[in-house]
Amino acid sequence: KVQSTLSITVVGASGDLAKKKIFPALFALYYEDCLPEDFIVFGYARTSMTDEQLRNMISKTLTCRIDKRANCEDKMDEFLKRCFYHSGQYSSEEDFSELDRKLKEKEDGKVSNRLFYLSIPPNIFVDVVKCASQRASSGSGWTRVIVEKPFGRDSDSSGELTRSLKQYLTEDQIFRIDHYLGKELVENLSVLRFSNLVFEPLWSRSYIRNVQLIFSEDFGTEGRGGYFDNYGIIRDIMQNHLLQILALFAMETPVSLDAEDIRNEKVKVLKSMRPLQLEDVVVGQYKGHSKGGKSYPAYIDDPTVPNDSITPTFAAAAIFIDNARWDGVPFLMKAGKALHTRRAEIRVQFRHVPGNLYKRNFGTDLDKATNELVLRVQPNEAIYLKINNKVPGLGMRLDRSDLNLLYRSRYPSEIPDAYERLLLDAVEGERRLFIRSDELDAAWSLFTPLLNELEEKKIAPELYPYGSRGPVGAHYLAAKYNVRWGDLG
Ligand code: BG6
Repeated sequence: KVQSTLSITVVGASGDLAKKKIFPALFALYYEDCLPEDFIVFGYARTSMTDEQLRNMISKTLTCRIDKRANCEDKMDEFLKRCFYHSGQYSSEEDFSELDRKLKEKEDGKVSNRLFYLSIPPNIFVDVVKCASQRASSGSGWTRVIVEKPFGRDSDSSGELTRSLKQYLTEDQIFRIDHYLGKELVENLSVLRFSNLVFEPLWSRSYIRNVQLIFSEDFGTEGRGGYFDNYGIIRDIMQNHLLQILALFAMETPVSLDAEDIRNEKVKVLKSMRPLQLEDVVVGQYKGHSKGGKSYPAYIDDPTVPNDSITPTFAAAAIFIDNARWDGVPFLMKAGKALHTRRAEIRVQFRHVPGNLYKRNFGTDLDKATNELVLRVQPNEAIYLKINNKVPGLGMRLDRSDLNLLYRSRYPSEIPDAYERLLLDAVEGERRLFIRSDELDAAWSLFTPLLNELEEKKIAPELYPYGSRGPVGAHYLAAKYNVRWGDLG
């Protein structure tokens, strides 16, 4: 067997994402013995830094979180010894040639596989890809590139980006990451649905009344205003993270678990979605607020955000899928920053039981008796099903209680971070959890007309206080489709 080497070059090594997520994920994979024996990590950025300084920087964010095995510190040292730094400009062919020289030196003539992780702003993706693919791609093994969103800001710019990248890379070499697809509960969605008889037969308009995808954060843009103001919450969260979950939720059964089969189904369902209408969308922006003697800033107080910005930090939307399975079922999405809590969940509300014998016990509000399946993606992962139950005793009092699968109790071992799974998949060439270019096109087609209209008409966002439950408009939108947001009780 020919010995091969793996190098992972993190371009944008001094950025936040690299420090907080990518290096720690690589260490976790190393710790778990998931990486090939012969592997090295290169940090690439403009700042000049020695290998030692990079190691020092990385070591601050590595943790022995997996378990407290005694050898963790040793493993950390071993890992750091495999990390190197190369300082270079993002559009300099010479600097990438120099990287290539360093890589070759370490590869020592073995078959080399090279993975580049672009943790950089999108306006320099193409420059880096050009230089890396022409000057630093592997001559003997594979070369793959992981790109982080944003992949454009609408259909045109995304199409343009795809065309430019494809001048230098094949679709097979591009790994478009959406880290929500690497989250444990999102991966489990298909398992839950396709391998449990009690769910798949109910997965349609016949039994499901509505589906809710909810993302909320209890902090604002905190220093990321410069990036955020260009994109807004619809592009930051809805068009990718929530829509990806929706596609997985609503797709037809794939032919197999093969990446192409799954992505084919996702594309089909994305194409069956009706482009969003302005009247089915509510946008909001957080305003300053003081509570308990503490004051919280407004979005426009962020120094990197213009004072008159109307960029939404909150949005709610109703999406419809025009196919036989989902005709008429509202899929409601809600995403916001600076809300009262941090949470991501999928809520499935079922229809009423026809001719419910126990109707009387629920008073006039039959909604209180509907079953609801909740997948809590984070924090504190859980799956629970709200069912009606008799309260023990001589009378006949009914109660809605939960069948509850709390991950912390059932699976006490640590859940891997999304980036660990995705990095490992990229190393192994598994494309199932990465976004194919036609998927990306379909996702943009759904949102682009709405984004254009919001911008052309300069729709002012509804203001909501920092730390609140968001704009009341979101309730009206839900009520229009006879829905109550499940997260509000
Ligand atoms: C990113 C967004 O993709 O996801 C951020 O750009 C957001 O605005 C983040 O905070 C949320 O990720 P997580 O994994 O912390 O829920």
